[in-house]
Amino acid sequence: MDSLTLTAPDDWHIHLRDGPALSTTVPDIARWARRAVVMPNLTPPVISAADATAYRNRILAEVPAGVDFEPLMTLYLTDDTTPSMVAEAAACPYVHGIKLYPAGATTNSEAGITGLRALYPVIEAMETHDLPLLVHGEVTDKHCDIFDREKAFIDSALIPLIAQFPALRVVFEHITTAEAVEFVEHVGNKVAATVTAHHLLYNRNDMLVGGIKPHLFCLPVLKRDRHQLALRAAVTSGHTRFFLGTDSAPHARHEKESSCGCAGCYTAVTALELYAEVFDEENALDQLESFASFNGPDFYRLPRNTAEITLNRVEQVVPQQLALGQHEVIPIRAGESVAWTIARQTQ
Ligand code: DOR
Ligand code: ZN
Repeated sequence: MDSLTLTAPDDWHIHLRDGPALSTTVPDIARWARRAVVMPNLTPPVISAADATAYRNRILAEVPAGVDFEPLMTLYLTDDTTPSMVAEAAACPYVHGIKLYPAGATTNSEAGITGLRALYPVIEAMETHDLPLLVHGEVTDKHCDIFDREKAFIDSALIPLIAQFPALRVVFEHITTAEAVEFVEHVGNKVAATVTAHHLLYNRNDMLVGGIKPHLFCLPVLKRDRHQLALRAAVTSGHTRFFLGTDSAPHARHEKESSCGCAGCYTAVTALELYAEVFDEENALDQLESFASFNGPDFYRLPRNTAEITLNRVEQVVPQQLALGQHEVIPIRAGESVAWTIARQTQ
């Protein structure tokens, strides 16, 4: 198959940042995604429906003329979130979920939660209002090895949470392990997972063998190839509770190429083409549409898109760098080729 036409996709997990970065991140995602679930980990974080509405307007101001793109907003769960904030969020047409970051787990997670049990009244309100909980699933215990943190989170936090709130919809974000795949496959239909292009394309050897590649450093960190293969099998299996979430996260080059480089991979500019490469390598291009365009809206209970997008098997070279305000961001595959190119979209 050298040409592939899909229902227009969405991105169910992205970081757009704020201010001048939006004039890069918003056009990049709006080029191929109709909607994107926008992460709330700004500084300060997006904690109320009013914050999310204001942020949404700043994003919409950067959507190129004639392009149809809708940001789906999320709130940041903190130790101070209350059930009435959940009720307000559920009543706001722009808010589609609340994101749980364990404090210290990743970029801009300082305001994250320090314990889940104390927030059970808030989670209960989310269950009552049917507002999805989006989860960064890693423990932060300093004694837990960084490669084991996702698995430990499943056992110590997710399993008890789901037992307590069986009707709560949970999106286990950017899963990276075979254990997470297995968990999602067997836990029941209230739990889904997003999978990034970078966790499908790379494993920790790609990041570490022959020298550290800071632009491949993300959280949860890339795992060994056994896990990468499990993710590839999951997304191409036709299972309906895995869907596309890039976790594209722009960081200025100097902050990644540093003695203490920060976590995040920028993929938005060619993410759909990168996913197509993976599905092609797995001889599963026929499964890309459900992963990219159907499973996400079905889980979030939103309509599927009606527009279409066409990809051709034509190589393109990823830009060496992109402007990010006064700085630059280095996208994944910078200066190298991707096997697919977007040819055409209908509105
Ligand atoms: O690599 C990551 N970058 N992982 C995250 O969880 C957050 C993200 C960011 O905000 O930059
Ligand atoms: Zn993220």
